[in-house]
Amino acid sequence: MKRPSPEAFSAGQACLASRNGLVSRSATIVSQRGRPRQGSRGGGNHRKVVPIRPGNHLWETNFVPDLARIELKPWGERGARGSNIMFILADGTMHAHISEMPVGTYKKAHRHPADFHVMCVTGTGYSLLWYEGQRDWVKVDWKHGTVFAPPDAMFHQHFNTSAVPARYLATAYGSLRYPFTEGKRAALFGGVSTSVKKGGNQIEYADQDPRIHELFVAETARNGVTVKMEGLVG
Ligand SMILES: [Fe+2]
Repeated sequence: MKRPSPEAFSAGQACLASRNGLVSRSATIVSQRGRPRQGSRGGGNHRKVVPIRPGNHLWETNFVPDLARIELKPWGERGARGSNIMFILADGTMHAHISEMPVGTYKKAHRHPADFHVMCVTGTGYSLLWYEGQRDWVKVDWKHGTVFAPPDAMFHQHFNTSAVPARYLATAYGSLRYPFTEGKRAALFGGVSTSVKKGGNQIEYADQDPRIHELFVAETARNGVTVKMEGLVG
């Protein structure tokens, strides 16, 4: 089934990233069909997804037609050959993004400020949560409609154990355009996809607790799903 692309539905203002990572508006205002509205400035820029860099590609909109089918963009830095799209919602202060894990994969663990609410859209799986230094984790099993919010600075890691790609929607206060706090700004602009060894807040596969992969192998086997982490986890 063909997925609708953002280009088919976009309405709103395109935006650009400045060199310091802040998002600012471009002069182009586009119509629902991708043509500049009368009186808009800038003319020929009809892009709706603003390619900033993987993980920060933007779509500015006030309407997302189908969370399960909207086209996503690759974001390998977060692991699992996953994909993602970030939203600027109606020029508001609310952040939202969608991420997807292919069958047989899981993402890298990371941490960030509180209030990102994660809702499962497709697939089934689980997430592990723990604070730095803790050996044990909290396990949250999820399916369509499950919502949970990783607490402030708590590491969390998402696992797809189903036979279909697992996709989730994350919403939070503080958008890419209006992050509001330094913590949220750091999270949205690279901190969540940079290794803790390099000053970021992500645990690379090579550095994770070996029990994490062992648990995933067991959980996927229970569903008859083949693990596809070759080349990612030794
Ligand atoms: Fe997260």
